[in-house]
Amino acid sequence: MLNKEEEIQLSYIEKLKEIVKEKKNKLNRDLTCQVTTFGCQMNARDSEKLLGILKEAGFKETDSDDADFVIYNTCTVRDNANQRVYGRLGALKPKKAINKEMRIALCGCMTQEKSVIDKLKKSYNFVDLIFGTHNLYSFPELLYRMYTEKEPIVEIWDKTDVIAENLPVDRKYPFKSGINIMFGCNNFCTYCIVPYVRGRERSREASEIIAEIERLSKEGVSEVMLLGQNVNSYGKNLKEPVSFAELLRRVEKIEGIRRIRFMTSHPKDLSDELIEVMKSSDKICKHLHLPLQSGSSRILKAMNRVYDKEKYLDLALKIRREIPDISITTDIIVGFPGETAADVDETIDVINKVNFDNAFTFIYSKRTGTPAAAMENQVSEEEVKVNFDRVLLAVQESAKKQLGRFKGQTVEVLCEGMNEQDDSFVDGRMSQNVIVHFKGDPSMIGRYFDVKLTDFHGFYYTGEIVSER
Ligand code: 5AD
Ligand code: SF4
Repeated sequence: MLNKEEEIQLSYIEKLKEIVKEKKNKLNRDLTCQVTTFGCQMNARDSEKLLGILKEAGFKETDSDDADFVIYNTCTVRDNANQRVYGRLGALKPKKAINKEMRIALCGCMTQEKSVIDKLKKSYNFVDLIFGTHNLYSFPELLYRMYTEKEPIVEIWDKTDVIAENLPVDRKYPFKSGINIMFGCNNFCTYCIVPYVRGRERSREASEIIAEIERLSKEGVSEVMLLGQNVNSYGKNLKEPVSFAELLRRVEKIEGIRRIRFMTSHPKDLSDELIEVMKSSDKICKHLHLPLQSGSSRILKAMNRVYDKEKYLDLALKIRREIPDISITTDIIVGFPGETAADVDETIDVINKVNFDNAFTFIYSKRTGTPAAAMENQVSEEEVKVNFDRVLLAVQESAKKQLGRFKGQTVEVLCEGMNEQDDSFVDGRMSQNVIVHFKGDPSMIGRYFDVKLTDFHGFYYTGEIVSER
C-alpha cells in the first residue's frame, strides 16, 4: 500500500521519464547519472533510493564524474568528509563548462548545516540542486523542478513526519539489503552533529518493516541489516511500543531470511532481552558493533554517553560470556576536549580487556554547534597524534589476537562477490563479519558455503570449501 506522498512522488517520476526521453532524443544518446556516497550505511541505503529513482526515470548509471547528472550524498560527522566533498565539487566545475547538459546535486547530512549552505551559495553557485536529509523522499519532485525551473533549487527542511519507503530502490547487492528501522537520534553526545542534521528519533512501524523484509525476501534477499543511529531504543516512540528484541524475533520468523545484522547499538540501551534473543537465534549474526568512544569515565561523562568505564566493561564481558563466539567491534574517538594521556590509558585498558575484534579509531573533529566545540580545553594536534597511534596499536594487536581464534574451524560463509585481485577467488563473509577468500566463480555469489579457515592473514582468512549449505 502506497501512502499519499509516495503516490505524488511516483507521479513525478512519470513526468521525469518524459523529460529524460526528450533529452535523449535531442542528444541522440543516453543520459547518464552518477551517485557518490560519503559516510555511513544509512547514507548508502539512501543512495540506493536515489539511484533507483534515477534509473526508473531513464538515466543510465556510470561511475564517471563526467555524467550528465552527478549527485553527492554527503556526510558531516567529521570535517574531513566535508573537505572531500568540497574538493570533488571544485573538480566538477570545469567539467560542467564543457558538458552543457551536466547538472550537479548535493544532499545528505552536510546540507543540513546552515554554514555549509552559505558557503555553497557563495563559492559553489554552479550546483543546481541542494536538498537535505528530511526531504530525500521528494527527490523525484526536486529533480523535476531542477529540470523545469531556471534558478538553482535549494530546499532544506528542519524536520518531517513523512516516512516514504516505497519508492524505487536500486540495490547494490541482489542477496543482501539494508532496511531503515528508525531515523534520527535523541542522544546528543556532546561531540556529535548527527542529532542536529538527522533530527529527532522516529521509528518505523514494525508491520511496515516486516512487510518490506518479506518483499525483499521474495526478491531473493537472504541477509538484512537493520539500520538506525541507535537501534536499541527502537520502538519506544511508537503508539504501540515494540522493543528492538521483539522486532528481531519477528524478523527471524520471515521465511527466506538467513542472516540478520543491525547497526548501531548504544551501550546505554542494550537490554538483557536483546542478549537473550541473540544468544538463542540461528539467524542473528554473531557480531555486535558497540561504540565505546572512550574508556575514561571522566571523558564519557563529558561526552554525555550515560555509561562509565565499568558499565561498558560489565556489558561487553557479559556479552562475551553469554555468546562466546561473538565478535565485538567498536568506535573510538581520540582527542576529545580535555583528554589526557591517562584517559587514553583507560581506553587502552578497555581495548585489552574486551579484546575487540576490530575498531574504527577516529581523531576528534570539532563540529560547529555541538557542545564540545565550545569547550575550552581542546587538545593539541601533536598530543592527539601520539595518543591516536597508541590506541591504533592496541586495536591492531587486539584484532589480530581475537580474529585469529577461528583458524582451522569450518564456518558458514556467504559468498558476496568476486575477488578484485584474483578472479579465481571469491570474497565471502562469516557471521562474525570477518572476510574469507576462497576458490570460486561468479555462480557462487549470494550462496552459503561451509568453508574451512586454513590461513589467517591478520584481519582476513583464506579457506577451502567443504560443502554448500
Ligand atoms: N569527531 C570524531 N568522531 C566522531 N564520531 C561522531 N562524531 C565525531 C566527531 N565529532 C564518530 C563516533 C561515532 C562514529 C559514527 O563517528 O565514534 O560512533
Ligand atoms: Fe551521535 Fe551519539 Fe547519536 Fe551516535 S548516539 S548518532 S554518536 S549523538
